[in-house]
Amino acid sequence: MPASPPYDAIILGAGAAGMMCAAVAGQRGRRVLLIDHADRPGKKILISGGGRCNFTNLGTAPDRFLSANPHFAKSALGRYTAADFIALVDSYRIAWHEKTLGQLFCDGAARQIVEMLVGECDKGAVEFALGRPVTAVEHDGMAFRVGIDGRIVTAAALVVATGGPSIPKMGATGFAYQLAKQFGLKLIEPRPALVPLTLAGDDALFRELSGVAAPVVARHGKVAFREAALFTHRGLSGPAILQVSSYWRHGEAIDVNFLPDQPSGWLRAAKRAQPRTTLARALAIQLPDRLATTLAERLALAGELANLADRRLEEAERRLAAWRFTPNGTEGYAKAEVTAGGISTAELSSQTMQAKRVPNLYVVGEAVDVTGWLGGYNFQWAWASGWAAGQSL
Ligand code: FDA
Repeated sequence: MPASPPYDAIILGAGAAGMMCAAVAGQRGRRVLLIDHADRPGKKILISGGGRCNFTNLGTAPDRFLSANPHFAKSALGRYTAADFIALVDSYRIAWHEKTLGQLFCDGAARQIVEMLVGECDKGAVEFALGRPVTAVEHDGMAFRVGIDGRIVTAAALVVATGGPSIPKMGATGFAYQLAKQFGLKLIEPRPALVPLTLAGDDALFRELSGVAAPVVARHGKVAFREAALFTHRGLSGPAILQVSSYWRHGEAIDVNFLPDQPSGWLRAAKRAQPRTTLARALAIQLPDRLATTLAERLALAGELANLADRRLEEAERRLAAWRFTPNGTEGYAKAEVTAGGISTAELSSQTMQAKRVPNLYVVGEAVDVTGWLGGYNFQWAWASGWAAGQSL
């Protein structure tokens, strides 16, 4: 089989990290081939942020990322910042706005971000090979050899930017892990993250509230997120829950504060002010009716507040401020916005993303064991890690 002329770098995966890496390397004069099995680049970018792409977060900081090594992401995030990406977006005159909590979205469509990245790749004369499944990857001692379409392409360097297995119907695969195994790189057990949690047993009663949302503080261990929670026909979702899901492990509980703005003693105060009201009605001032009724039923405090002992009201307050759910699982990769875990950071240089034990092999983006919070952090990691590798190729 005839071999194509060698490239400086072959990048597997034309997603967020792969395109950033290709553009940077190409613009530095490297000859880059960018391969994807999908027929168009950046499919996840296109559906991200409800079609408007939450492309970064103004609050980007290393403590908003999960990893077995919490220090690993610092270097890349410090060298390619949210401000750098915003400057790029501005240079393409893409209008954007801050929605909430530092989250930046396109005013128009996510397609603009993909077009911008393709434009940056074009500036670097990056060659795209789309709709091409990769059949084999080898290193022959001199170069990486990649089989696509019955032909072999070769390059001095290989970048794995194939992401994680979240949302397989978008073309996501665990290919990066297969390559990690092939090249002897350790994995941190991958798991669905930013994913709805499912409820069973006693908690399953809450599934009757499907569609009800409320602003809460959801807590897991030391982390807490003040955002909306949403009851679903399978359990719990909404931003607050998705955030804690990344920290949650099977068998663990999460706590939800349904009334984060109520001062201690508020229920006793309500009893003095409105002795004839019921707990359900007192709760319904703050919460959606159906949720108020269900919580009151589960607390088994029927009747007028006047007839309920202060001690029982204090206990109810405590439970409402830390309602314990023990999910029995998650909705899995089919519904997970990202994959936590992945190729161990211990295998990679934090400066360049190059594998320490396999020269010229790089891993970027979600394939690496670095996972951001909800809110543009995962794209910022994709841009920053792609940029770091692109500078090194
Ligand atoms: P990415 O998944 O972008 O790219 C990987 C590429 O590799 C894909 O193009 C895929 O086709 C290709 N590939 C996979 N296997 C292959 C194989 N075997 N051979 C060849 N190619 C292969 N984040 C955020 O910060 N803000 C947001 O608004 C959102 N919104 C959002 C919505 C939804 C529905 C999802 C699923 C995810 C998000 N995310 C997000 C997360 C974000 O999309 C994700 O973290 C990044 O896209 C990761 O970038 P990567 O380049 O690492 O992978």
